[in-house]
Amino acid sequence: MKVLVTGGLGFIGSHTVVELQNKGFEVVIIDNCSNSSPEVLKGITSITGKEPIFEQFDLREKSKVQDFFKRHDDVQGVIHFAASKAVGESVENPLLYYENNLATLVYILQELSIKASSNFIFSSSCTVYGQADELPITENAPVKAAESPYGNTKQIGEEIIRDTCKVNTNLKAIALRYFNPTGAHPTAAIGELPIGVPQNLIPYITQTAIGLREQLSVFGDDYPTQDGTCIRDYIHVVDLAKAHVIALQRLLEDKNNSNYEVFNVGTGTGSTVLEVIQSFEKVSKQKLNYKIVARREGDITAAYADTTKANEELGWKAESNLDDSLSSAWKWEQKVRS
Ligand code: WQD
Repeated sequence: MKVLVTGGLGFIGSHTVVELQNKGFEVVIIDNCSNSSPEVLKGITSITGKEPIFEQFDLREKSKVQDFFKRHDDVQGVIHFAASKAVGESVENPLLYYENNLATLVYILQELSIKASSNFIFSSSCTVYGQADELPITENAPVKAAESPYGNTKQIGEEIIRDTCKVNTNLKAIALRYFNPTGAHPTAAIGELPIGVPQNLIPYITQTAIGLREQLSVFGDDYPTQDGTCIRDYIHVVDLAKAHVIALQRLLEDKNNSNYEVFNVGTGTGSTVLEVIQSFEKVSKQKLNYKIVARREGDITAAYADTTKANEELGWKAESNLDDSLSSAWKWEQKVRS
């Protein structure tokens, strides 16, 4: 059975391609390589022994999207990762984000909505909750005004899918709201490849530990948390990838309760920044050079998932803990810099 993975050479996309192939799916990847490299194909193939079909083009070219679906009319499912995801960049260049993240989504849904039946998995984010009023966060928590154009594209994207599914009962969709993806494949054949200075905590930690960065800046220790630093739910990217396959299988087997569903995908455990650093020092057996600095604009105090719905309805649960994630991230960093 053929599955399209857009952004399949990216961090989460590549790990999902591996898990799809492990389950026997034939995978075709579309990626414009704006934030990834065709080298990732070698990493995927080295893990599974199967090279995915790969087409490099930009999903903003509507005619190419239409042509793709004509040539691949046997695609049974689509997992849509392709999007820009840098919060800060989205503030500087909102139109880039609204075009790249939303126009492309519309073009794909236009193709899927004319098929006899189609199954669509959407890469969403816990960022839609903003600072939730209650923790842990359930799927019923209110979606709040986005803190950035990036976050807004996730909210609008979910609404576009919801509205499309309302009038296209032949289209079944699931939005997965990720918490903080982290770690790397245990083989270290694929992992996170941030371009330039990492914005996210874990790659900045591993790059500091390997000597690429001088020192980690911890953005604030005056938050109302157990040690004053922010709390997040760090989920291993392989667990996250498996959740995508399980969600797709739910749709393919018609086990969904409605044709548009939303699931939180996290571990259900919150960790502070200092706890992440302590965990990293434990697994890497080395001290990390860091300092406390001022808060980062736009950061929320705490976010971690209530995973009941995914556990009970998807039958999915994260298997790796923070130490596992950091250990795999460190192994990957050492491999990339070797
Ligand atoms: C985590 C914590 C920082 C870097 C973002 C996006 C979100 C999703 C995941 C795409 C925070 C602190 C960080 C550093 C630090 N992306 N930190 N020093 O902001 O929770 O989420 O990535 O879907 O949409 O918003 O992740 O890793 O940037 O930050 O102290 O150098 O680490 O303050 O508390 P975040 P993050």
